[in-house]
Amino acid sequence: MAEHVLALDQGTTSTRAIIFDARGTIVATAQREHSQLLPRAGWVEHDPVEIWTNTEWVLSSVLARAGLSAAEIAAVGITNQRETAMVWNRRTGRPVHPAIVWQDTRTQPRIDQLIADGGRDRFAAVTGLPLATYFSASKIAWILDHVAGARAAAEAGDLMFGTPDSWLVWNLTGGTRGGRHITDVTNASRTLLMDLQTLEWSDEMLAIWNIPRSMMPEIRSSSEVVGEISEPGEAAGIPIAGILGDQQAASFGQAAFDTGESKNTYGTGNFLLVNTGEKIVRSRHGLLTTVAYRCGDEPARYALEGSIAVTGSLVQWLRDNLGLIQRSEDVEELAKTVDDNGGAYFVPAFSGLFAPHWRPDARGALVGLTRYVNKAHIARAALESTAFQSLDVIEAVVADAGRELEELRVDGGMTKNNLLLQFQADILGIPVVRPAVVETTALGAAYAAGLAVGVWSTRDELREHWREDRRFEPKMDADERSRRIRLWRKALTKSLDWVD
Ligand code: G3P
Repeated sequence: MAEHVLALDQGTTSTRAIIFDARGTIVATAQREHSQLLPRAGWVEHDPVEIWTNTEWVLSSVLARAGLSAAEIAAVGITNQRETAMVWNRRTGRPVHPAIVWQDTRTQPRIDQLIADGGRDRFAAVTGLPLATYFSASKIAWILDHVAGARAAAEAGDLMFGTPDSWLVWNLTGGTRGGRHITDVTNASRTLLMDLQTLEWSDEMLAIWNIPRSMMPEIRSSSEVVGEISEPGEAAGIPIAGILGDQQAASFGQAAFDTGESKNTYGTGNFLLVNTGEKIVRSRHGLLTTVAYRCGDEPARYALEGSIAVTGSLVQWLRDNLGLIQRSEDVEELAKTVDDNGGAYFVPAFSGLFAPHWRPDARGALVGLTRYVNKAHIARAALESTAFQSLDVIEAVVADAGRELEELRVDGGMTKNNLLLQFQADILGIPVVRPAVVETTALGAAYAAGLAVGVWSTRDELREHWREDRRFEPKMDADERSRRIRLWRKALTKSLDWVD
């Protein structure tokens, strides 16, 4: 039997394919970045066709690099940037508009109107989510309202909506020649359109946003065979057996399967997930309630999530907008040339602030500057802002859960940065633990797919794969820690007080 599993990770900045063997070890990878289209302040778009072309390329390339044929791959698991909304025509297969990315804030006026009519949490009981531009619903509505002919086409049943997982599955399984139009529960739980209890699209939510039900994909579990690849030809015949939103996939890849288990992923943004088991826990401190995963017919497992919009993308901003560094990974070297932040604090509220504040009107603030501050201090303040924002989310988790976290499992690209992880441990006052495989997002998608086709039989078996790479113990003394946190909180007030 084929024992390799292929994960497709369609992220915010790139699309990757990774082949894992049955021990969860990486055999080969291929990756391609796509363009970030920024037509106006606050708008962020992707070209779905470019993403599909990149997907075909990474799939074919990874098979070639591994020297494996489609027949030697037991299954494909898909994971993806969540919330990003794509709308395409089912007859032509052409998108009617670029994808509106999760970071895009163009729909704020509509969100404000709905908040004025009933409060930010008016849909939380059904969807688990606050009203925010972040989720898919307002993005779909915007496309239907602004693209000529879109609403009529949607009402005639000609348009399909999907997050990137749906777009990929539809194309991989044949597109206009009979592709499957599906998504999984974790992705569906990010749209503001799914009922968390029934795990079905909510008619009430669809009516509020005026979105025809015929546009919506069928909701499937995260681990089951949903179709077979027909394109690209090199991958034809491989079953698609797992789909998870990328943060839920990272949690699965970290083996955070049971109640109380958690992980914090450091990517473009940071996303902390705490598994709450079969219980839907409502946050009183600014966290989201979301689906963690559902394997086949088993009951769904839920999670509380603290989403932070800007962490790794702040490092990209230092590189692209300020030219402080040439490559993102250079930030650690630059930050290490100084002992501390020199008094500078950076609140990167570029898209407002997500959890636990949910303040779209907040703006970025760099404070505490003196003539002494140089670019290394700014690099350091930027890294520290990732750790401070994670602290704020973890405090919300602790307040909701009523108990302290014993340690923090971390993953994602930025966790290669030892300076950041040491500072994270110092600021939290608990150990921060990095696993041997930090590609947990792809690994989680591979796990979900491999479980569905029998490469692995139980989640406990997967737990055995988890290995620690390094544990960062807190070293900062308590007074210093409180002083830094106090200054961070002061900087936060500047960002929150800023009115455009
Ligand atoms: O909710 C947005 C998240 O899914 C994006 O993750 O890793 O693509 O930045 P990433």
